[in-house]
Amino acid sequence: MRKNIVAGNWKMNNDLAQTNALIADLKNQEQTSNAEVMVAPTFTNLHQSFNALKDSKVEVIAQNMHFAENGAYTGEVSASMLKSVGVETVILGHSERRAYFNETDELLTKKVDAALANNIRVIFCFGEELADRKSNNHETVVKSQITNALFHLEASALQNIVLAYEPVWAIGTGETASPEQAQDMHKYIRQTLANKYDEKTANGISILYGGSVKPTNAKEIFSKPDVDGGLIGGAALKAEDFYAIVNAF
Ligand code: PGA
Repeated sequence: MRKNIVAGNWKMNNDLAQTNALIADLKNQEQTSNAEVMVAPTFTNLHQSFNALKDSKVEVIAQNMHFAENGAYTGEVSASMLKSVGVETVILGHSERRAYFNETDELLTKKVDAALANNIRVIFCFGEELADRKSNNHETVVKSQITNALFHLEASALQNIVLAYEPVWAIGTGETASPEQAQDMHKYIRQTLANKYDEKTANGISILYGGSVKPTNAKEIFSKPDVDGGLIGGAALKAEDFYAIVNAF
């Protein structure tokens, strides 16, 4: 059975003191939903965050990783380094990584394989740009992003992938896909998975929505049958807002 998941992507926000303060606030929140809760601090704060949250229900995850095991890749962080500080889930393919750091489907394939080889679960992000939606190409774009980076995997490996559909035009813009647009795309994604694999595999995969999810719209988005949770940016930086979203299930 697929799980409900709410993951907070803190992006390049919060130094160590601010991270500690946000974690303290998170620990004061009450969870009333059954969602799995995750937060993704920046690399320098992963170790401290893991220690601070290890007795809680909040999982600490990473925002990115390199595909190589180690070596001459200045400024990069490997899967085994993440594991060594307790991280077991990584976000890959976020649209900001694709847009500002030229991450391609080919590179992401290597990252996905490296994460899975190290028993790290992947939250794989993808989504169309505004021009794709305006030209009615959004399904084609999304299908190719998933096909190129994931469809070489066996069905069993797919169990360690969480999908995050994030239309680029809705990230950080305040503009959200309507709950119907989200549901239509999530249903299309699940059907695409069923065509490639089978119904059982497709139904077992959590598909999150991301892009300006807020306490005011989370409930309606999460109520859609193929939406299994959210990847939250801006609203994850305030503990009360984040838990209002966590508890929107
Ligand atoms: P946002 O970011 O919630 O600030 O739109 C979402 C994301 O980038 O995952």
